[in-house]
Amino acid sequence: MGSFLMTGLLMISACFLAELVMTSPFTNSTVQCELQDTYQEVMAVTGEGLYLPCPNLKCSSELNASLISWFKNNSNGIQQIPVEETSRVHHHGAVLYILPLAINDTGRYITRWWYEHDKCDEYETDVVVYGEFHTDQLYRNFSEQTATVEMLCPVCENQEKNLTWYKDFHLIPGQTEEILRVRHTSKKDDGIYTCVCSWEHHGHTYKSSGSHQLQIVEPARSYPPRILSPPNNSIEFTDLGAELVLKCSVFFGTNVKDQLTILWVRNDTRLVGVKGYSYYTRKVNGTVVSVLTIRKVSKLDLHSVFRCLALDSRKWVQVFITLRSRESALPLVVMFLCLFLLFLLTVGITKWFTVDLVLFFRNFWVVWNKRDDGKVYDAYVVYQKDKMDEETEIILANFIGTVLPAVLEDKCGFKLFIQGRDDLPGEDCLVLTDARIQLSRRLIVVLTPGVCQGQKVMTPQDYAWHVGLHQVLVQQEMRAILIQLGGMSENSELPQGLQHLLWKTPLLRWDRGSPHAAQPASRFWKQVRYMMPVPAGPACQPRPRPPSPNFSQA
Ligand SMILES: *[C@@H]1O[C@H](CO)[C@@H](O)[C@H](O)[C@H]1NC(C)=O
Ligand SMILES: *[C@@H]1O[C@H](CO)[C@@H](O)[C@H](O)[C@H]1NC(C)=O
Ligand SMILES: *[C@@H]1O[C@H](CO)[C@@H](O)[C@H](O)[C@H]1NC(C)=O
Repeated sequence: MGSFLMTGLLMISACFLAELVMTSPFTNSTVQCELQDTYQEVMAVTGEGLYLPCPNLKCSSELNASLISWFKNNSNGIQQIPVEETSRVHHHGAVLYILPLAINDTGRYITRWWYEHDKCDEYETDVVVYGEFHTDQLYRNFSEQTATVEMLCPVCENQEKNLTWYKDFHLIPGQTEEILRVRHTSKKDDGIYTCVCSWEHHGHTYKSSGSHQLQIVEPARSYPPRILSPPNNSIEFTDLGAELVLKCSVFFGTNVKDQLTILWVRNDTRLVGVKGYSYYTRKVNGTVVSVLTIRKVSKLDLHSVFRCLALDSRKWVQVFITLRSRESALPLVVMFLCLFLLFLLTVGITKWFTVDLVLFFRNFWVVWNKRDDGKVYDAYVVYQKDKMDEETEIILANFIGTVLPAVLEDKCGFKLFIQGRDDLPGEDCLVLTDARIQLSRRLIVVLTPGVCQGQKVMTPQDYAWHVGLHQVLVQQEMRAILIQLGGMSENSELPQGLQHLLWKTPLLRWDRGSPHAAQPASRFWKQVRYMMPVPAGPACQPRPRPPSPNFSQA
């Protein structure tokens, strides 16, 4: 019974041993390989070729291929890797080939080397295969401040090959060396540097790649702390019982390793470990932000001053924040709104009554207004007579001959020079026109719907028109008053100088149908009077007017 058990146990252990021994090239050897601590990890991408020498230098230069064998630790146990060249995964002595790599090649690979008849070393290598480039594949994070950074190609060491280098997956031209040197580094050199190696195996070309990430750390530069937000003495509106979050963001400098602190204080109490108040600090793009959470705003909070205090080892600064309940803000908002409306109203009223006010005050102004400016006429009146229909002609004649002089001359005491009325027949028009315009304080331009550009022969009227506009626009010695009779002319039809004038001067429209068309107190005439110079006499009075004998209708 006992011997049976013994033989059973022996048989089982023999089987077990056989299993172990089967993995060795020396099938009769019972040597247990000694695991070495030269663990390495290799990362690659599917489709690339893997050329993996034994991780030990002596082992990798072993010339007798039969002394080395490779295994993979699969889900179904340790399996030996074949030596046949036709196999996708095979080994030739110290070198393991996987041509090409697939995702399922990820796993632990074991190398066993019988360096003596009864002595065996074992090495482990983990291979990780990614579907595409992954940041986990980065071999080494360079974070340097030095002027020149050197990167060694992480793949294809001790192999016949051609190398190319890429920065952020763009080819770096002319780089074929095993070591890539980046000189005069600055922040713009940050990126992923990939070394791609192509090598041949039995007439096929395979590629392997490895990448470094370069991150340049700028030199530390510390400044006295500066609180970027909130503004000093700011007011935060909230509600009683509500949750409130306050943020304080402070600039201490770049890459500072100094002790940096941000504190929250209510009145004189540090809000550390106070129930209902908590804060944390984090770094955001070179600034340090401290976030205070008040779980429930209390009455005390609303009557307190909060402070955000920032300090480094040398200096401290603080800003003050006051809480206000939203309700208390309402009257303030209403008051501002009322003030704003009042302001708008005042502006509107002032604008509307400017003309009346100015005319009113002119009554007093005339007393000490000395008119020794060397001028003779208050206004020179120009208009065009060509190209208009009969109705317009009558309206124009009525306005120029009757209404205009009746109001401005007879009632208001202005002295006008009206073309066609005041020039004597036969005088040298052109010379005198110039002189008279010079002697006038304003130019009154009367526009009718027919005014247009295409002039043929220049009549004396046209001449006055041009000289007048020249005075107003070019020499800016005179102000113009634009009066429109009847319908509006298309702006684009007007002479250019006039169009320009319309930008700067309001166009006053005379409505002959209005019952107040000839009354100085009407809106239209008030505006004209407002734009006229200050009159010599007192305000306009209703005076009778004799008919003007000189005016002849065109
Ligand atoms: C093989 O893998 C299994 C499970 O993944 C692990 O428990 C075992 O230790 C591995 N063997 C070796 C020799 O690495
Ligand atoms: C692993 O994947 C490759 C290619 O996708 C396939 O040829 C091979 O049979 C797979 N091996 C195993 C063990 O699944
Ligand atoms: C904020 O204002 C207070 C006085 O109201 C002053 O003492 C403090 O220095 C100011 N802080 C900053 C950062 O200007």
